[in-house]
Amino acid sequence: MRVQVAIVGAGPAGLLLGQLLARAGIDTVILEQRSPEYVLSRIRAGLLEQGTVDTLEEAGVAQRLHREGLVHHGVEICFDGTRHRIDFQGLVGKTVTVYGQTEVTLDLMDARKALSAPSVYEAESVSVHDFDGKSPRVRYQKDGTTHEVACDFIAGCDGFHGVTRQSVPAATLNSYERVYPFGWLGVLSDTPPVSDELIYTNHERGFALCTMRSMTRSRYYVQCPLTEKVEDWPDERFWDELRSRLDAKANAELVTGPSIEKSIAPLRSFVAEPLRFGRLFLAGDAAHIVPPTGAKGLNLAVSDVRYLAHGLIAYYGNGDSTRLDRYSERCLRRIWLAERFSWWMTSLLHRFPDTDAFGRRMQGAELAYLFRSPTAQKSLAENYTGLPFDD
Ligand code: FAD
Ligand code: DHB
Repeated sequence: MRVQVAIVGAGPAGLLLGQLLARAGIDTVILEQRSPEYVLSRIRAGLLEQGTVDTLEEAGVAQRLHREGLVHHGVEICFDGTRHRIDFQGLVGKTVTVYGQTEVTLDLMDARKALSAPSVYEAESVSVHDFDGKSPRVRYQKDGTTHEVACDFIAGCDGFHGVTRQSVPAATLNSYERVYPFGWLGVLSDTPPVSDELIYTNHERGFALCTMRSMTRSRYYVQCPLTEKVEDWPDERFWDELRSRLDAKANAELVTGPSIEKSIAPLRSFVAEPLRFGRLFLAGDAAHIVPPTGAKGLNLAVSDVRYLAHGLIAYYGNGDSTRLDRYSERCLRRIWLAERFSWWMTSLLHRFPDTDAFGRRMQGAELAYLFRSPTAQKSLAENYTGLPFDD
């Protein structure tokens, strides 16, 4: 088999890249180690920046998003039982859209099927070869047979634990990492959300987030120790812990019910530099991780892919490789700004093992400053709703 671009990974990054390229007449194959059902069962991000919505429109997959997505004009932040609203619309004239990553993924899978573009699910032992030379290839096994795909370029969209970044010679890759000493325990339930907007809470017992997927489906998170397992958290314990961290109004309005999904995610900041190695490009979680507090993970994956797709389209359209040559630099500029914002939100809102009385007062003072400073709120709103693209 020969294609122009071989894409490893069918998460949002790989599927979106495939869709943008297919619409430009560039042929691709997507190799994914899991089944479509498994990919769709992973409950992850839920909040899309306007730039992400625009890119999904460009990919022709935003019809259901516009019908079912919930547009939010602000968020609330709660400290010591008092909530403050950050008015995105008023501060920066922008909004964000609640639409689950699973829905984005499903829309992209359907679009790919409609174009009859090839995807190989349950591809085993995927490996990448000769991306530094002239004839890059990707090998995989399926049903006991080894297959090889020859291509012009390889896109590594295979997430943090994927094979593409790990195939790059260590001496050519710099990585920067911080692992946080806690995780997020998330619960999905078919109950109405506690409020129309998201509530981020810094409580003495730890962080909590009230978010949603629709007006009948809620998503809640509480910070928890990394030593805990999902089995340690029967629904009642989760709801009790969440209640203990929420303000009185939220507590009065919280509707609880059986969980339909429950998982613990570790928190990490990670950046690999550069993002290009010859004819191999890394995009999304394969190249970087942010802690989820700033809701940036999925949005960053989309912004990488947008730069990469535009670079490849220019290359195949008129032989212009300037955008591809600038891919790493342009992505990294946005990545580090998102890393900073996600790290800042995480530091501001969580209880760390060394958060003593002084540390907690400092978090309170930082938030008090935010709530009285239109400039600080504007900065939060700009970063949360997404920085503009430089193209
Ligand atoms: P992924 O979605 O990880 O997709 C990579 C794909 O590659 C996967 O389908 C994987 O199966 C496949 N793959 C991996 N290795 C191979 C291989 N060797 N061969 C072939 N295929 C391979 N972000 C938020 O903003 N908010 C959140 O609440 C949030 N929660 C998260 C919870 C968890 C548990 C995780 C892991 C991430 C979460 N994120 C969240 C981050 C967000 O979901 C990611 O940033 C986003 O999924 C990145 O998309 P991606 O396509 O780059 O990577
Ligand atoms: C969601 C997750 C986040 O990490 C976040 O900051 C906002 C929303 C969500 O799952 O909806």
